[in-house]
Amino acid sequence: MKSKAMLTIMLLCAALTLSACAIQQPSGADDNLYQALGAEPGIEQIADNFIMEIAYDPRVFDRFADSNVERFREKIIEHFCFIADGPCEYTGDSMVLVHRGMDINSAEFNAVVEDLIDAMDKAGTPISAQNRLLERLAGLRPQIIEI
Ligand code: HEM
Repeated sequence: MKSKAMLTIMLLCAALTLSACAIQQPSGADDNLYQALGAEPGIEQIADNFIMEIAYDPRVFDRFADSNVERFREKIIEHFCFIADGPCEYTGDSMVLVHRGMDINSAEFNAVVEDLIDAMDKAGTPISAQNRLLERLAGLRPQIIEI
């Protein structure tokens, strides 16, 4: 378990050196929240911090032990950008498809949300922008948890 944890942390560190934001398309939408999150560099920082918070969170760490960290980073950046009405296309799988069958419970969902809040705090994201993103993500809760 200890060596598995070390390996995952090493993989996370390797992934953090990559810059994989798939910002591609102008959406034309009001990108106020995207800008408040710090646009591309701000969202990349939030995502990197988020991955580190998850990596050190014993409540959910095991859930991600077999995940492709590089892909997760790329898709979570796209996802946050898209949700914040930024100029991105989300190219990952749907929330239902990704999380269905994992039997994620509400305590685990809350833990991941807390990790995201810590990630945004460490990125210096303004509280008002944090709350606006969290409000949008809360709407996805029924697609992610099953218990
Ligand atoms: C607001 C909450 C959440 C959001 C927005 C979210 C979003 C995402 C996104 C965008 C991906 C990448 C999808 C892809 O690769 O196509 C992903 C993957 C994943 N998520 Fe979540 N997620 C959330 C909550 C959770 C929770 C609570 C857990 C478990 C405790 C979880 C476990 C995972 C795992 C293990 C993967 C990787 C799956 C794989 O490697 O195949 N997620 N999530």
